[in-house]
Amino acid sequence: MRLAKILVTAAAVVTALSSPSFAKADEVNLYSYRQEKLIRPILDEFEKDTGVKVNVVFAKKGMLERLKSEGMNSPADAILTVDISRLAEHKEAGVLQAISSEELNSNIPAQYRDPEGFWYGLTVRSRVVYYAKDRVNATDLTTYEDLADPKWKGKICIRSSSNVYNQSMLAAMVAHLGEKQAEEWAAGIAANMARKPQGGDRDQIKAAAAGECDIAIGNTYYYGKMQTSKDAEQKSAAEKVAIFWPNQDGRGAHVNISGAAVTKAAKNKENAIKLIEFLSSDKAQQFYASSNFEYPVKPGIEIDGTVAAWGKPKFDAIGLDKVADKQADAVKIFDRVGWR
Ligand SMILES: [Fe+2]
Repeated sequence: MRLAKILVTAAAVVTALSSPSFAKADEVNLYSYRQEKLIRPILDEFEKDTGVKVNVVFAKKGMLERLKSEGMNSPADAILTVDISRLAEHKEAGVLQAISSEELNSNIPAQYRDPEGFWYGLTVRSRVVYYAKDRVNATDLTTYEDLADPKWKGKICIRSSSNVYNQSMLAAMVAHLGEKQAEEWAAGIAANMARKPQGGDRDQIKAAAAGECDIAIGNTYYYGKMQTSKDAEQKSAAEKVAIFWPNQDGRGAHVNISGAAVTKAAKNKENAIKLIEFLSSDKAQQFYASSNFEYPVKPGIEIDGTVAAWGKPKFDAIGLDKVADKQADAVKIFDRVGWR
């Protein structure tokens, strides 16, 4: 909160003094939905390498509302957030600006960045299947689609449809299979749920471990966090399930990103670009991805040991902008099929 006040004050000063030398001040202001411990060490490296100071407001919600209400007076130069739907939502709301950078285009595969340059993926996560090792045979698992089959009735744990990760997963389904098939799938999953959707991704794995369901769906990094957790309950829950990569003979497992974007109001645009470029570089990629059990967005970067032990999955190669395009459809489908 104190940092937020300082930022707001700094912005007021920048607005009041429009002297060019002040505008060139070597700093960059960041709004972040990513936790401090995930990014502070890399930001420190960036500061050391470039001499550009990074001021960060860490938030859990309300970033878009804040950027909208601040308008062109926003002190934020860049944002860090998770999920393609959030990045797309910020673009849609007009609070971002397109940037172009050869370095970003070469570090980040086209699939993981906006074709118009409004947002850039920095880490990759997948949303996959976990199965109770003592009750499910891996050979009985194949695809996301198969989980909608009545043979899984009463066996699936998955969180609420208000969650953006689920919305993006269904949006990808709409993009691949069309609205009708995606709706049938969502209805099938809703019919196969072991309980009313509740809790976060980790709670689904815990429920599968406790025998409430046989199958849990969740993002990969939560599994990594549980496997390495100091909390005995989380660790033992993770040990009772195994990860299954769906659709490996087809389009691959559903992927999503955390990413960054430059705000429309950016007063330190060059520094904001420099920072995002740094986050996409070899130096930052390995730490940034490993610190949260994610996959680096840049190909060829070493993967964290816990994550590497899950195997070498085939990921869905669809452009995430195409997934974002179907977000609104996904939300409507969830509503129609009664997935609460
Ligand atoms: Fe998450």
